[in-house]
Amino acid sequence: MKVFTVFGTRPEAIKMCPLVLKLKENKDIDCVVCLTGQHKEMLAQVMEAFGVKEDYNLEIMKDRQTLTTITTSILEKIESVLKQEKPDIVLVHGDTTTSYAAALAAFYQQIPVGHVEAGLRTGDIYSPFPEEMNRLLTDRISTYYYAPTKMNADNLLREGISDNVFVTGNTVIDAFQYTVKDGYVFSDESLRTMDFDNSRVITITAHRRENLGQPLRNICSAIKRLALEYKDVRFVYPVHLNPAVRDTVFAVLSDIDNVKLINPIDVLDMHNLLARSCMIMTDSGGLQEEAPHFGKPVLVLRTETERPEAVEAGTVKVVGVDEDVIFREAKLLLEDENRYNLMAKAVNPYGDGHASERIVEAIINI
Ligand code: UD1
Ligand code: UDP
Repeated sequence: MKVFTVFGTRPEAIKMCPLVLKLKENKDIDCVVCLTGQHKEMLAQVMEAFGVKEDYNLEIMKDRQTLTTITTSILEKIESVLKQEKPDIVLVHGDTTTSYAAALAAFYQQIPVGHVEAGLRTGDIYSPFPEEMNRLLTDRISTYYYAPTKMNADNLLREGISDNVFVTGNTVIDAFQYTVKDGYVFSDESLRTMDFDNSRVITITAHRRENLGQPLRNICSAIKRLALEYKDVRFVYPVHLNPAVRDTVFAVLSDIDNVKLINPIDVLDMHNLLARSCMIMTDSGGLQEEAPHFGKPVLVLRTETERPEAVEAGTVKVVGVDEDVIFREAKLLLEDENRYNLMAKAVNPYGDGHASERIVEAIINI
């Protein structure tokens, strides 16, 4: 059976590489890896960390790319590859424009699509943008659904999708087997020299399209206030390579002693940084799944989430993008030990680290 996997951004790669490794272990499966190259350096970091080599890279990334160019470049470039490979199934992941465009391209060739991380929803097509629409459309096109949680499967059921839905857990938990190590030594110089034993470290990431502009300025201003008030706390912010993100972040947060603005770190550094941080402030989807595993409170810098499982468990709190609210919520966690301990629970609603095996089994059983 020929299984054609397509992915193109950092988070997709982090969650697809563990699955690719399991697909490649199975002698009944011929696994092809096609990167769209929606990301470049940030994707290469992940491929290297997992030791996965691609068969194709469509190399579509452009500086400050638009949703239209991402979509059209993938559609144009992947067609000949699909025609040549003639796979039995195309696997896409999550909610990026790579996922949607690749699913659409497979549909045009009448190849069934399997959607890894199917069924996540916020219910608002403009938030996150364009991810909520990407996952709705990808689920509409797909034939096979690998839903991380029962809640995700229920979302699909509400849309009338009940056949070929498998609740598998999230492959991000599988990824920890490859990344989290005792006595880990960081590759990033500023992390290697950071005194995690004697100072509290807050890890920050923010990049979402709907946060670009004023919301991201608000987030950065709140962090600046926190850093000036809590001089003993270290703020580590690996800044996404999107120039629209970097312009804002460096304008507000450069030259503050206890704020470290660093380049994107590889996934090994990131997972081991999570394990050593006291809390996480982020608009990322993946970090909302990862940080609870380590028992680290997460303040979500968005107005909604498609990942309510850890919110219900109490480890993740959605705080929005208002400067005062972000400042207040972080301050509460830094000062109120009881409140911190209530959130700092190891919670893992996302599976037992065997999601990839379940997906492989479901594919073999087709
Ligand atoms: C994309 C996904 C988003 C996902 C995010 C993960 C879409 C529409 N967006 O958003 O769902 O959460 O990836 O990070 O699918 N860049 C580089 N090098 C890189 C990567 C990006 O220079 O390795 C720069 C380029 O200038 C690029 C820009 O970042 O044009 C934006 O990249 P893009 O993939 O369009 O948007 P993301 O915000 O990364
Ligand atoms: N991540 C990483 N290096 C970084 C920042 C994030 O490896 O410098 C990882 C993080 O651990 C998570 C994933 O990238 O697994 C999240 O990616 P991102 O925030 O880009 O996308 P999202 O999750 O929002 O789709």
